[in-house]
Amino acid sequence: MKTLIEPFKIKAVEAIPITTKSDREQFIKDAFLNPFTLKSDAITIDMLTDSGTTAMSSKQWAAVMDGDESYAGSRSYYKFENEVKNFTRMAEIIPTHQGRAAERILFNVIGGPGKLIPNNTHFDTTRGNIEIVGSTAVDLPCEVGTKPEVIADFKGNMDIEALENFIKTTGRENIPVCMLTITNNSGGGQPVSMANIRETKEVCKKYDIPLFLDCCRFAENAYFIKQREKGYENTPIIDIVREMFSYADGATMSSKKDGLSNTGGFIALNNTEWAEKLRINLIATEGFITYGGLARRDLEALAQGFIEVMDENYLQSRIGQVKFFGDLLLQAGVPLLEPTGGHGVYLDARRFAPHIKPEHFPGQAIAVEVYKEGGVRCCEIGSVMFGKYDENGNHINPPMDLVRFAIPRRVYTKSHIEYTAEAVIEVFNRRNELRPMKLTYQAPVLRHFTARFDYI
Ligand code: F0G
Repeated sequence: MKTLIEPFKIKAVEAIPITTKSDREQFIKDAFLNPFTLKSDAITIDMLTDSGTTAMSSKQWAAVMDGDESYAGSRSYYKFENEVKNFTRMAEIIPTHQGRAAERILFNVIGGPGKLIPNNTHFDTTRGNIEIVGSTAVDLPCEVGTKPEVIADFKGNMDIEALENFIKTTGRENIPVCMLTITNNSGGGQPVSMANIRETKEVCKKYDIPLFLDCCRFAENAYFIKQREKGYENTPIIDIVREMFSYADGATMSSKKDGLSNTGGFIALNNTEWAEKLRINLIATEGFITYGGLARRDLEALAQGFIEVMDENYLQSRIGQVKFFGDLLLQAGVPLLEPTGGHGVYLDARRFAPHIKPEHFPGQAIAVEVYKEGGVRCCEIGSVMFGKYDENGNHINPPMDLVRFAIPRRVYTKSHIEYTAEAVIEVFNRRNELRPMKLTYQAPVLRHFTARFDYI
């Protein structure tokens, strides 16, 4: 059989809002032309994020019921710890309520003024948590990683040469940790190869710098290694995952992605001295060491989610669905970041709407129009999210202007994907009508969440 199917059937359904185009025009106007501020009642297909939006399995819901809500020493924690140890093979497992809590605790303990943290590309909360403690987040993506039109297998890779030069020029004493984000979310959900993880580790080892993975989408990354990297064609996913983690000294995870659950995160590491300090911070800010800000039932859902996410049939349908969506758009000529990544499709807004300059937010204009067209919510990842200004107030363009359609796991059917593609293609066919935009309000940090816009 050639037809790819979802390796599950649907047991519970949730109605989605169906709206008219004139409703949507009003809704987005009321939301100041920012899809982030739309109410979910106004959204038919929500591709704002793949984070915490997973449909849980019947086994996970059953496990939730079996959660042991003991404050300390809960058996649900030990199940969780066991599963995380199973794939990370790390000694110390510290639960947190989501990824950014793991980041906050880590950088409160090992960061500080003057410290520098390299990564292939930092996710925005990682960058935020680094900057809040006075450290600097440094992105060192490989060259093809910032070229949306170039097709390559592992565009999420770290630029190894740049990393070594960076360490040599800045001095290893200022670098408490090096990170690697798998898959590279801000770079298009692109995978990092095993060779690149290994080489990053070699450089880190040479200068005695610990390597931490930001491993939100570790299973998706492993699937790409299996598909694309020579020598891994016949390796079971769990073995690829374990090898990936074997090069790392620690990891932070938002388990809202490849934990196949609606909340959760962790820090995993081997350094017991650091672990002790992290746990003190955890107790003061998140919760006791056997729940870390989560209900124990959430730990149950995660323990089961970590098993399900490494199922190869699941990963094939997951990555296959993202590719199916991307192919529908490519066939219609829509410019994408290619190849499609692990958790979503990223439109290349600069080629989609070349008549709108980056400082006039082409990605935002597309996101607003796609919402009006089909009630589909997506997310600008470009000049709104990363744009900065020089001292004369001139806009500094980020490397790319993208529009992300992040696909929730196990949530949408093939016809939902076809509907979404139709909305995008409709907007693409009348792209000359897209209009430049300006900000009417922006917060001093992380402005994309609450920004307000108008047309110029
Ligand atoms: N690291 C990466 C690579 C992420 O993608 C995210 C979240 C985080 C850390 C933070 O985790 O949300 O649990 O605190 N990404 C979401 C997204 C929000 O939409 O890409 P969190």
